[in-house]
Amino acid sequence: MTRPVVDRFVAGDALPEALVAVRALAAHGIDATLDHLGEDITEVAQAHRNRDAYLALLDALSREGLGGRAEVSVKLSAFGQGLPGGHDLALAGVRRVCEAAEAIGTTVTLDMEDHTTVDSTLAILAELRRDFPRTGVAVQAYLLRTEEDVRALAVKGSRVRLVKGAYKEPSSVAYQSRRDIDLAYVRCLRTLMAGDGYPMIGSHDPRLVEIAVRLAERYGRAPDSYEFQMLYGIRDAEQHRLAAEGRRVRAYVPYGADWYGYFMRRLAERPANLVFFLRSFTTR
Ligand code: FDA
Repeated sequence: MTRPVVDRFVAGDALPEALVAVRALAAHGIDATLDHLGEDITEVAQAHRNRDAYLALLDALSREGLGGRAEVSVKLSAFGQGLPGGHDLALAGVRRVCEAAEAIGTTVTLDMEDHTTVDSTLAILAELRRDFPRTGVAVQAYLLRTEEDVRALAVKGSRVRLVKGAYKEPSSVAYQSRRDIDLAYVRCLRTLMAGDGYPMIGSHDPRLVEIAVRLAERYGRAPDSYEFQMLYGIRDAEQHRLAAEGRRVRAYVPYGADWYGYFMRRLAERPANLVFFLRSFTTR
């Protein structure tokens, strides 16, 4: 019963369905970043399986000639970051993925998870960028620390995806009100747009998209020096509109059987999604 609702946000259970989604987006001039779903693992073997799923994904992108249209997004928790000795385990796994991505001319972006993982994720990013300088990272505007992190990241070649943040965080580390989060987002966005890196605006918020457009103009950014990113299945018409205007747009495309955590975060973000979800139990 929940399947049609899950399908709105997740491209499918398996790799071939993800590739169909990438091709459909490409037909509208939209690139993709693919997320093989999987997080909160408990065993090293699962970390290896998740790494291998990304290697298979990159192999398929290469075979299908889609390396120029799609990159990959990685959750380090799925690579074992939360296990004992997890920092090194995750680094070794994601390094293999970066090597495979580089070999087909594409990139890897590290998702950001709950606040306890930020130091480890940024340290792994710094290690990876020595050999793979185009490795990107997501930063969350709701965290009090992020303005400072963003200042350090707004450097040449650095790909930074700015998002509001999707985890439930305490007030000791994160802004709580929508207004404070939005204001922090704009401050971080200004630093990124004024800097030398490659900003990736990860938001569906129409006001923030508009502000990004204006800041890009103010700082004289070329159209290929930043991009908009939105989640698969959310505000598709806006994704198409931005692409039709000649702007760079990339959709974040999750796929895989382990969709529960991702799906629940999308429900939590928007009460209307919950209504849509509950209605699927009553209308069949
Ligand atoms: P906001 O939540 O204010 O939404 C603005 C408007 O967008 C809504 O009014 C609605 O129209 C639409 N919308 C937003 N969410 C919707 C939903 N779930 N369903 C339907 N419509 C919706 N977070 C994180 O912590 N770590 C990460 O690595 C990432 N990565 C990431 C990549 C990309 C490409 C995007 C777009 C987002 C993320 N996120 C993330 C999620 C992010 O932190 C945030 O939770 C969501 O993007 C929702 O925030 P908005 O900026 O869209 O604004």
